[in-house]
Amino acid sequence: MNFDKLFNEISPEDISDDIFTLVGKDYFAVTAGREQKYNSMICSGGGMGLLFRKPVAWCVFQQTRYTLELLMKEQSFSISYFPDEYKKQMMFLASKTGRDSNKMKEVELKSIKTPFGNISFEEARLILECRLLQVTTPNPDDFYTEEAKDWINEMYKDPNEVRKYVFGEITHVWIKK
Ligand SMILES: Cc1cc2nc3c(=O)[nH]c(=O)nc-3n(C[C@H](O)[C@H](O)[C@H](O)COP(=O)(O)O)c2cc1C
Repeated sequence: MNFDKLFNEISPEDISDDIFTLVGKDYFAVTAGREQKYNSMICSGGGMGLLFRKPVAWCVFQQTRYTLELLMKEQSFSISYFPDEYKKQMMFLASKTGRDSNKMKEVELKSIKTPFGNISFEEARLILECRLLQVTTPNPDDFYTEEAKDWINEMYKDPNEVRKYVFGEITHVWIKK
């Protein structure tokens, strides 16, 4: 399917969704890699805003995620939001890692390439394309509430649990026609 037939470009200012619903209730798929090799996962933390006067999206990744590996390699990624009816298909992307499985072949969503080479899905209702801006590791000493300190110290007992904060400059926003 031709990308332009399905999606219109809008500016970041025209995103009318409530960010807390988008991130915390709807969740979103992050996809990284290129047509030959791409991978997606589901995230439920992050946001959007301005950094260095640029529109940015940020997400939180456990450092072992295969999607994170591809994202850092290609230095770009897409964030896809889906209508509720695709929740089951979308959540399949969180069911296993793509590092050693065929989940991108098995998923019941149709991949689509944006005009700028990022991969998303025909079923998405809103897509952000991002250029990788920053990957940073939160330092436990930088947390101030007891709750956050306990949370991060407990988590960091296992190196696999270390989180990365990923910031991407939003280069294009697409909405379903
Ligand atoms: C509702 C939901 C939200 C999730 N949010 C995150 C998240 O914000 N960050 C993260 O690293 N993993 C998150 N996960 C787990 C990944 O989506 C999951 O481990 C995925 O299989 C990783 O895929 P990959 O290794 O192919 O990249 C979430 C899973 C679910 C079910």
